[in-house]
Amino acid sequence: MRKKITVVGAGNVGATCAQELARRDYADVVLVDIIPNYPQGKALDLNQAGAVLGYEPALTGTNGYDETANSDVVVITAGRPRSPGMSRDDLVTTNETIVSSVTREVVRQSPKTVIVVVSNPLDAMCHVAKAVSRFPKSRVVGMAGILDTARFAAFISQELDVSVRDVTAVVLGGHGDQMVPVVSATTVGGIPIAELLPKGRIRKLVERTRLGGGELVNLLGTSAWYAPGAAAAQMVDSICLDQKRVLPCTAYLEGEYGIDGLYMGVPAKLGAGGVEDIVRLKLAAEERKMLRASAAAVRDVVGVLKRK
Ligand code: APR
Repeated sequence: MRKKITVVGAGNVGATCAQELARRDYADVVLVDIIPNYPQGKALDLNQAGAVLGYEPALTGTNGYDETANSDVVVITAGRPRSPGMSRDDLVTTNETIVSSVTREVVRQSPKTVIVVVSNPLDAMCHVAKAVSRFPKSRVVGMAGILDTARFAAFISQELDVSVRDVTAVVLGGHGDQMVPVVSATTVGGIPIAELLPKGRIRKLVERTRLGGGELVNLLGTSAWYAPGAAAAQMVDSICLDQKRVLPCTAYLEGEYGIDGLYMGVPAKLGAGGVEDIVRLKLAAEERKMLRASAAAVRDVVGVLKRK
């Protein structure tokens, strides 16, 4: 039987994610949005693209949740994106209300699903989805690390003029300006970047990665969607196809990395059960310190939530 994936929020990120998934051709995709006719229109357009690109039309657009019943994975992208001058944390109250109501509807129709949260502020919205769904921690996971890592890898590949495919980058921590690009575990063709670039250059790439989302908001007037949509689709693949890939994900930590009771970005094994394992990296002392600072920043935002 074909898999079923729901994407809530048919805006920039949701539609891009749905398009990526439709092109894979292994699942039916349901696109949900509150704007009348909007998800129906996006689904129609994406289905017609299949005639050009060679995939079967398998998307349904809807303003309700009946069509989402028994989804294997639900991706939540509903909510406001950033505008220039806003931090992700500025969205917390608006998006808490939206993510709460969406999660309630999702769970009613798909009590066994795995939820992939994309709405920002990401780490806090994972707490909301977990609290409202009452799912085990394995079945609520956030998308941020693949995106942050992709940005770091892209900057390194440009700097060294090497294929991005040969860059293995690692970014941990919260999805905010205090995220932790892990230089000690970042390599090009197996060689640590500390052996390939001077410290000052690395520091600049790390800084650009941390502020990578803001750079795009300033250019676009809203937040990015191609890389975020593709990153969410990669997580869906690993869950739906039980690939057991080790990917940077926002997972609920209970003691790992010395952090307890908090969603943070860490490498995790993603399979049919959602988060099946958390990988523990050895960090340098400076990186451990940065991770603690990132955790404190995430706790501040979580502290603002009505439901934690
Ligand atoms: N139910 C369903 N859809 C909703 C709801 C809701 N309660 N509230 C808002 N939406 C929809 C909007 O109608 C809109 O179509 O969510 C969609 C969001 O799309 P965009 O405004 O294009 O925002 P996008 O760039 O996709 O970002 C969505 O993901 O990356 C994060 O920071 C980003 O929080 C933001 C989210």
